[in-house]
Amino acid sequence: MEELPVRLEEWKWVFKKSLTKAFYLVLLLRFKVEIYIFQMVDLSVKFCRVEFKNPTVLASGVLGVTASSLKNVVRNGAGGVTTKSIWLQENVGHKNPTMFGTDHYFMNAVGLSDAGIEKALGETFPEYNKRKPAPIIASIVAVKIEDFGLLAEKISEGNPDIIEVNISCPNVEDKYGKPFACSLVDAAKVTEAVKSRTKKPVIIKLSPNVNDIGEIAKACADRGADGFCVINTLGPGMAVDIDLRMPILANKVGGISGPALKPIAVKCVYDVYKATGLPIVATGGVMTGEDAIEMMMVGGRLVGIGTMVYYRGVSGFKKIVKEMADWCDKNGIHKIEEIIGVVK
Ligand SMILES: Cc1cc2nc3c(=O)[nH]c(=O)nc-3n(C[C@H](O)[C@H](O)[C@H](O)COP(=O)(O)O)c2cc1C
Repeated sequence: MEELPVRLEEWKWVFKKSLTKAFYLVLLLRFKVEIYIFQMVDLSVKFCRVEFKNPTVLASGVLGVTASSLKNVVRNGAGGVTTKSIWLQENVGHKNPTMFGTDHYFMNAVGLSDAGIEKALGETFPEYNKRKPAPIIASIVAVKIEDFGLLAEKISEGNPDIIEVNISCPNVEDKYGKPFACSLVDAAKVTEAVKSRTKKPVIIKLSPNVNDIGEIAKACADRGADGFCVINTLGPGMAVDIDLRMPILANKVGGISGPALKPIAVKCVYDVYKATGLPIVATGGVMTGEDAIEMMMVGGRLVGIGTMVYYRGVSGFKKIVKEMADWCDKNGIHKIEEIIGVVK
């Protein structure tokens, strides 16, 4: 009779130990199942000699200001990230409201606000590169061609994997004139200026607001561009609040992104791939894994994703990667690179 409390204690101890074991077993199984799901298809992609674990990349201007925000996007599934466009000096941007969304499209006139390159070199890059979780693309923007060259040289000190040259933002036209991406000669000159000042791979971000995007891409390729980001926002467009009888955006006009942009982006990616065969970050209206597959089939090697975050949240990256993997499994694709440019 006296032994009973001791045995009870023993049983409790055994029970506790089994529970802990069971807990770890469930954890291990879940982990293994996840690995199994992602091992069915190899989603990794090489882009300008840089290895990405999957083709999704955060597009410039969305969640790309601080290192912690960029790292959070990677934690949520993105294969790589792009910074917000960085200027030589601070740029204030437009007044609020700067953006709004509907079921069909999104419109923004942020006006390329940025703290300038010194902050990026002092904070964003060193912090991101400490235990770097995925490749980082540095987006640069300037008004003068020679400033693009200087920016490229300076930003290389931050050790980004790739430099993206933003010559295509439509919502600063009133302030700075037509973007360089709308002129064959200017686009080529900027490419040359940047390439002469850095050894990093250089991709040029093109605009859909041109007659022949393939021709512009070809001119940049001839001056040494290593690849492209296709496309920036469309427009500018305009929307009116009919109750207030005034434009919704303080800037009156803004660049269009989101679902409505996708068919235009698909056509632009197709044209640029046909004209140059160079690697492309296919960007514009990607909301689902199927959208991303479509972009790759017309020539996208990576897929840029921005406005999706407004519709599905940042965890949408993980969902899109899963949707891509599911599609590949169903269609017998073992390596995602197999589908790049299959649409002729
Ligand atoms: C709020 C917002 C800010 C943006 N800022 C930039 C920017 O700083 N530099 C740039 O090159 N593109 C910028 N873009 C354009 C996106 O990078 C992308 O090219 C475009 O939105 C189309 O892709 P999406 O439909 O996936 O958003 C911005 C877009 C949005 C919606």
